[in-house]
Amino acid sequence: MGFLLRSICFIFFLLNFLNTFASPTRHLCRPDQRDALLDFESEFTIRNLDNDYFSSISYPKTKSWEKSSDCCSWDGITCDANSGEVIELDLSCSCFHGILNANSSLFKLQKLRVLNLANNDFKSSMIPTQFNKLMELTRLNLSDSWFSGIIPTELLHLTKLVSLDLYSNSLSAEKSFLSKLVQNLTNLEELYLGLVNISSEIPQNISNLSSLNSLSLDDCNLIGEFPSSLFLIPTIQSINLNGNQDMEGTLPEFNVNNSLVSLDLSWIKLLGNIPYSIKNLKHLNTLKLQFCKFQGKIPSSFGNLTNLSVLDLSDNYFSGTIPSSFGNLFNLTYLDLSSNRFDGQIPSSFVNLKKLTSLRVGSNMLSGNFPLSLLNLTKLTDLSLADNHFKGSLPPNMSLLSNLETFDASDNTFNGTLPSSLFNIPSLTSIVLKNNQLNDILEFGNSSSPSKLERLSLSHNHFRGSIPKSISRLVNLYQLDLSHFNAGMTVDFSIFLQLKGLIDLDLSYLNTTNTVDLSIIFSHLSLLSSLHLSGVHVSTTKMGSVSKLPSRMNELLLSGCGITEFPEFVRNLQHISDLDLSNNKIKGQVPQWVWKLPQLMILNLSTNSFTGLERFSNDFPRPEIIIHNKLVGTLPRSLKSCSSLEVLNVGSNKINDRFPFWLNFLPKLQVLVLRNNKFNGLLYNPHQTFGFPKLQIIDIANNHFTGNLPSHYFADWNMTTRKDFSGFDYIGYGGSYYRDSMFEKKLTQNKLRNKED
Ligand SMILES: *[C@@H]1O[C@H](CO)[C@@H](O)[C@H](O)[C@H]1NC(C)=O
Ligand SMILES: *[C@@H]1O[C@H](CO)[C@@H](O)[C@H](O)[C@H]1NC(C)=O
Ligand SMILES: *[C@@H]1O[C@H](CO)[C@@H](O)[C@H](O)[C@H]1NC(C)=O
Ligand SMILES: *[C@@H]1O[C@H](CO)[C@@H](O)[C@H](O)[C@H]1NC(C)=O
Ligand SMILES: *[C@@H]1O[C@H](CO)[C@@H](O)[C@H](O)[C@H]1NC(C)=O
Ligand SMILES: *[C@@H]1O[C@H](CO)[C@@H](O)[C@H](O)[C@H]1NC(C)=O
Ligand SMILES: *[C@@H]1O[C@H](CO)[C@@H](O)[C@H](O)[C@H]1NC(C)=O
Ligand SMILES: *[C@@H]1O[C@H](CO)[C@@H](O)[C@H](O)[C@H]1NC(C)=O
Ligand SMILES: *[C@@H]1O[C@H](CO)[C@@H](O)[C@H](O)[C@H]1NC(C)=O
Ligand SMILES: *[C@@H]1O[C@H](CO)[C@@H](O)[C@H](O)[C@H]1NC(C)=O
Ligand SMILES: *[C@@H]1O[C@H](CO)[C@@H](O)[C@H](O)[C@H]1NC(C)=O
Ligand SMILES: *[C@@H]1O[C@H](CO)[C@@H](O)[C@H](O)[C@H]1NC(C)=O
Repeated sequence: MGFLLRSICFIFFLLNFLNTFASPTRHLCRPDQRDALLDFESEFTIRNLDNDYFSSISYPKTKSWEKSSDCCSWDGITCDANSGEVIELDLSCSCFHGILNANSSLFKLQKLRVLNLANNDFKSSMIPTQFNKLMELTRLNLSDSWFSGIIPTELLHLTKLVSLDLYSNSLSAEKSFLSKLVQNLTNLEELYLGLVNISSEIPQNISNLSSLNSLSLDDCNLIGEFPSSLFLIPTIQSINLNGNQDMEGTLPEFNVNNSLVSLDLSWIKLLGNIPYSIKNLKHLNTLKLQFCKFQGKIPSSFGNLTNLSVLDLSDNYFSGTIPSSFGNLFNLTYLDLSSNRFDGQIPSSFVNLKKLTSLRVGSNMLSGNFPLSLLNLTKLTDLSLADNHFKGSLPPNMSLLSNLETFDASDNTFNGTLPSSLFNIPSLTSIVLKNNQLNDILEFGNSSSPSKLERLSLSHNHFRGSIPKSISRLVNLYQLDLSHFNAGMTVDFSIFLQLKGLIDLDLSYLNTTNTVDLSIIFSHLSLLSSLHLSGVHVSTTKMGSVSKLPSRMNELLLSGCGITEFPEFVRNLQHISDLDLSNNKIKGQVPQWVWKLPQLMILNLSTNSFTGLERFSNDFPRPEIIIHNKLVGTLPRSLKSCSSLEVLNVGSNKINDRFPFWLNFLPKLQVLVLRNNKFNGLLYNPHQTFGFPKLQIIDIANNHFTGNLPSHYFADWNMTTRKDFSGFDYIGYGGSYYRDSMFEKKLTQNKLRNKED
């Protein structure tokens, strides 16, 4: 009996013991904390939308939240082992959709030390000021969660914060935000405010954040002086101020005592040189100084930054030679020196950069033959030598670069044979060699494995003779440019018909005398969206037999193709936006349906034998009309109703009309070109204001206008400032004419006098 009792007592003791020590989290959850969590969850819709930006990384952590189970065991929750209070809540990527209100139950969890609500959809909620109830917070992460409005200064009451991440929301900050932050959040180690509109200076005493390790203030609209005191913070490892274009300054001298690993100052105006003392940043792994306006030579001391893995110095004004000490940067994987003024040759020491995967030196003044040292860099996936002064032939053993994916050597003077080994690199997807002096192609490779090549541009070289049939092996091409290939008498156009994936095909100016049957191209290449055949004789007579036109065709350039009739099939190209039929022999009327093509932006019908325009439709939606032809008679008065018209160019016709005052109400007209016609009469109408509210360019040269031109016509023109011209970028085709004459108001060769002369 005594034994039994002792045994029962022992078992009881054991159970108690297990309960207390062996599973310390069992039944720890405090009901008030549990209810607050469940109430918080119920304030939101929780679902993973298929089309959700985060859908691939999100899952609802709250799925495991069962009222009957211990809330401390729920997904995303950590409790204090003693008190049972929730001290960490990680609901990042948990598919929350809805407004975070000031009365949210979240703010009942006042012992929270870590809170992560990143990557949810708070539907443009303001950040509630009630966050200042969570005074124990050391880490707060609200990144990428669709918060908006002004960051409440109450956040700055959270003086225990070590990490604050508000990256990528639609937030803005008061001008004094950073100064106040420096004063209060003195324990910060990580501060991520990328994309917050701060619009103020960084206070120099940001260096008072003496524990700061990572600072990201990228794209924050920061202004003023670049705070070089940042480099004085002994703990700082990462600084990212990328994209603050209105900030400026110079780099300071660097001390030996620094821990900097990553520095990104791209787009800040950092005038002057890079100091020799850059070598003291000996822990540096990533350095990005793109678009900084640096100038001068690159100090050879760069070669001491042997931990560098990523170096981007592109888009500056660096000059001189690339230091051969770059060859010491054994750990470099990414090197971008493009768009500078480097000259000389690529140093042979580059042979040491064995880890390099990306090398971009395009748009400099580098010279010499193809740098053979590069053939040792077998990890290279991305090589650009474009737009330099390289010459000589490309090496025949290009396939040593066995991992290459993109190769761009365009705009140089490489000559000789295009090495067919290039096409045997299995990983290669893009070859751009346009604008060189290559004169021979043997084969487009001979490897048995299928080519991955998607993009091939060989235009403007000195190629001569037939295009090798092996081009039809490149079945994954979607962009092919062989324009200005001097192909000779006959071209077998059927070699292109197996390239079913082609979206963008340029075979213009092949210098061939045979004719392309457009119906064959259209019936085989159904994905085409851009086709250039200018300068090649094109037959459209069988187009009627094509059952299905390429549905995405939007750019069709058929200038100088010997076309004699307006191509009727164009009527069915509902996505056409750029149509060039200039320099043909098309007779008769411009059909009215042209003006009804819903996407047409640019139409060039110049140098044909048109005799007239059918009536414009009243809802003509196109912003640009170019007709450079033999139009006779008067301008069609129906143009008056083209309220979207931005560019009207009827230059070089035989129009015999008065000045079109009746167009002066067109609200968007910016360019009016009437040159080389027979316009006549007065330009000045005392009964009418000049109007043309948006006009920026007027060209009336070579007409028969007479009379006075009062200066007050021009006094009203307020659209001539440069900043208004940004809207002109879309006028790509033929745009150079408008850009060249941007500020000229061509009024030459008429009999005009300014009244105030
Ligand atoms: C919380 O505030 C929102 C908006 O102000 C309101 O619609 C809601 O009823 C409030 N909820 C509670 C529990 O008071
Ligand atoms: C914030 O959370 C997101 C998503 O979990 C994460 O990617 C990011 O690194 C976090 N920020 C900090 C400072 O830890
Ligand atoms: C700094 O924090 C304290 C304590 O939380 C607070 O009273 C004060 O208003 C804060 N200062 C600023 C500038 O936010
Ligand atoms: C930082 O400088 C500002 C003036 O520029 C001053 O008001 C503030 O007190 C300083 N903060 C710290 C922490 O020294
Ligand atoms: C940023 O804020 C400034 C001033 O508060 C404002 O002028 C500017 O338009 C804002 N920029 C953006 C992109 O919201
Ligand atoms: C901030 O740093 C400056 C020197 O950089 C120092 O004079 C000042 O006392 C510091 N302020 C605080 C509050 O630590
Ligand atoms: C920098 O590199 C040069 C040459 O590569 C070397 O002689 C020098 O000792 C290095 N300096 C430091 C501080 O590492
Ligand atoms: C390069 O990186 C390796 C690790 O990838 C590291 O051990 C080494 O110290 C780095 N620096 C040099 C100069 O190799
Ligand atoms: C570069 O490659 C060639 C041929 O592959 C080889 O003979 C040479 O030793 C390599 N050079 C270096 C420095 O690795
Ligand atoms: C290529 O150009 C160089 C001059 O840069 C010339 O010496 C050489 O003969 C040319 N080779 C061919 C094949 O045209
Ligand atoms: C076009 O080819 C012919 C002969 O096929 C040749 O005589 C002529 O020079 C070539 N035109 C151009 C511009 O190369
Ligand atoms: C240009 O001036 C007209 C009146 O002459 C005025 O109505 C219009 O608002 C002005 N446009 C701009 C952009 O200032």
